[in-house]
Amino acid sequence: MHDIVDLRSDTLTLPTPAMREAMARAEVGDDVWEEDPTVRRLEEQAARRTGKEAALFVSSGTQGNLVSVLAQTRHGQEIILDRDSHILNYEGASAAVFGGVQTMPVTTERGFLTASQVRENVRPANIHIPTTGLVCLENTHNRHGGTCCTPEEITAVAAAAHAHGVAVHLDGARIFNAAVALGRPVADFARPVDSITFCLSKGLAAPVGSLVCGSREFVARARRVRKMVGGGMRQVGVLAAAGLVALDTMVDRLAEDHEHAKRLARGLAALPRLRLDPEKVQTNIVIFHVDRDGGSAELAAGCLARKVKIHQIGPSAIRCVTHKDVDGEDIDRALDAFREITATW
Ligand SMILES: Cc1ncc(COP(=O)(O)O)c(C=O)c1O
Repeated sequence: MHDIVDLRSDTLTLPTPAMREAMARAEVGDDVWEEDPTVRRLEEQAARRTGKEAALFVSSGTQGNLVSVLAQTRHGQEIILDRDSHILNYEGASAAVFGGVQTMPVTTERGFLTASQVRENVRPANIHIPTTGLVCLENTHNRHGGTCCTPEEITAVAAAAHAHGVAVHLDGARIFNAAVALGRPVADFARPVDSITFCLSKGLAAPVGSLVCGSREFVARARRVRKMVGGGMRQVGVLAAAGLVALDTMVDRLAEDHEHAKRLARGLAALPRLRLDPEKVQTNIVIFHVDRDGGSAELAAGCLARKVKIHQIGPSAIRCVTHKDVDGEDIDRALDAFREITATW
């Protein structure tokens, strides 16, 4: 049990004692010179986990996506993505600002483009029209409530893109959640795509860092772009050391976060004016709607007064995310708070 139940995001997880110890002991060197042995170990481990030839340590998921887009597109091109994707909504239009790339947002059911949507949206050759440079996928899908798609779904989408000579990037910020939820290795999700980014600093609880993985040739280009955007870091093995502990010790336990999310969702669905389908909760994110004017603000304030923090993501929508710093008793406390606040609704 924790003093404050913080369900706002899995990015709020604190590093474990083993991570702090590994950080203190880390062997380091200048990583821009590719001489940091701990970063190299982390990159090798990331390449192995994703089944790719190479990997690059970057500062954040946002930087990983930016580097991946910039390394695979040219100015004036277009990227196809889901309209609720993180790249489109939460990365400050970075692809447009730094890459001169415009977005083609597509409305999807669970956050996942289908092969036919890719075929419909790839641009034909015509001097009036931008060329399609990249298809971007997201798994698990944040704004759709942690939904996951299967490796087979990704394979179908990638085949449609590749048939038109278009590369595919997977924003796998929470790909380990998808892998644990569906009982499949991360490499199965990564195999069909040209590049994948995953985060160490969300459910895996490391303080900083993401990895961009792909072919050796892609990673060489990504390394150059990372330097251009100021992401070349020096004795950064102190951070990579925590990432290695995250990959070694924090993956399997994600199943516990998924169970907590499911239990939270079932409890919420039983309360008045809260709308969600708990059967659709697949991983650690629970998004629900409040059918009452001003209800979501009332809920957020009421929870805060009871030391439970939740995240309002729209006028009527709330997001709760489970993670390693939320235990079973915390879920009970959160549900008690929701029950008290909605008792008179
Ligand atoms: C799906 C997805 N992609 C990318 C990111 C960006 O990661 P970061 O916060 O490390 O920049 C996030 C962060 O929440 C995310 O949810």
